[in-house]
Amino acid sequence: ASTLGAAAAEQGRYFGTAVAAYKLSDSVYSGILDREFNMVTPENEMKWDATEPSQGSFSYGSADQIVSHAQSHNQRIRGHALAWHSQQPGWAQNLSGTALRNAMVNHVTQVATHYKGKIYAWDVVNEAFADGGGGGRRDSNLQRTGNDWIEVAFRTARAADPGAKLCYNDYNTDGQNAKSNAVYAMVQDFKSRGVPIDCVGFQSHFNSASPVPSDYQANLQRFANLGVDVQITELDIEGSGSTQAENFRKVTQACLNVSRCTGITVWGIRDSDSWRASGTPLLFDGNGNKKAAYTSTLAAL
Ligand code: XIL
Repeated sequence: ASTLGAAAAEQGRYFGTAVAAYKLSDSVYSGILDREFNMVTPENEMKWDATEPSQGSFSYGSADQIVSHAQSHNQRIRGHALAWHSQQPGWAQNLSGTALRNAMVNHVTQVATHYKGKIYAWDVVNEAFADGGGGGRRDSNLQRTGNDWIEVAFRTARAADPGAKLCYNDYNTDGQNAKSNAVYAMVQDFKSRGVPIDCVGFQSHFNSASPVPSDYQANLQRFANLGVDVQITELDIEGSGSTQAENFRKVTQACLNVSRCTGITVWGIRDSDSWRASGTPLLFDGNGNKKAAYTSTLAAL
C-alpha cells in the first residue's frame, strides 16, 4: 500500500495523527491528513478546559468539527482525554475533595455521552503516575480526592459509552522502569477486580534525553499479556535523516511484533505542527514533503 493508513490496515492496524481543528482549513494539512491517516486524536479540543470552560456548561464546537471531518473521511477517533491533571479549566483547578470528585465524574459522563458511539478508544485517564523511581501516583488535585479516582473515572466512562475502548495513557512508560511497573500493577489490579480497562497507551515522545528504549517491544508485550490492547498514542522522535528514520522503523516494527498493538498515532503531521518548541520530530517537513522517517515507517508496515 502507498499510504500509512492503508499499509497499517493491511496489517490489521490503524495509523493516526493528532489533529488541530483550526488547521483543517489549511489544504496542505488536510490533504495529507485525508490521504495518509485513518485515526485522529483531537490535539486539545476534547480536553477538560476546552469542553467544560465553565462548570456545567459544555462547549463541543471545535471537537465536533474534528469528529465530523473524521467521519466524512473514514477516519476513526481516539478521544483525548477525560481526566487529567493538566489543561483543566480554572474552576476545576480551584476545586478539591468531594466537589472536585463530583465535577470529574460529571465531566466524564457528559463528554463520553456526547460522543457515545463515535469513539474508538478514550484516554480515560492521562498521566496519573509520577516520574522517577518511586513508582507512585502523581500528586494532583484529582489524586488528592482519593486513590480510587482512576477506577471511578473508568467505571463512569464505561457506563456512559459501553462501546468505546477505555485506555490509560502515559509518557515515560515506554520501557520497563519504576513508572511503567506501577502502571502495570494498576492494570493487573483492575483486571483482577473487574474494573473496566481495555487498553494502555504509550505516548512515546522521544528525544536524545529519552530515546526509544531497547525493551520497548518487550514492555508493550508484557502489558498485552495482561489482556489489554496497547497503542502508541503520541509518537514523535527528535532528530533527522537516517537516524530518525531508523528510530521510527524500530517503533513501527515493535508495534507490528505485538499482536495486541492495534495502532500507532503520531503527534502531528508536519514538523511545523509539532507541540515541541524546536526540532523536527514528525514524518513530514514544514512544506508537507515526506521525510526519510516517513519512508522507513511506510516500508516497515
Ligand atoms: C499537548 C499539545 O500538543 C499542545 O498543543 C498543548 O499546548 C499541550 O498539550 N501529553 C499529552 C498531550 O497527553 O495532550 C499533550 O499535547 C502532549 C503531552
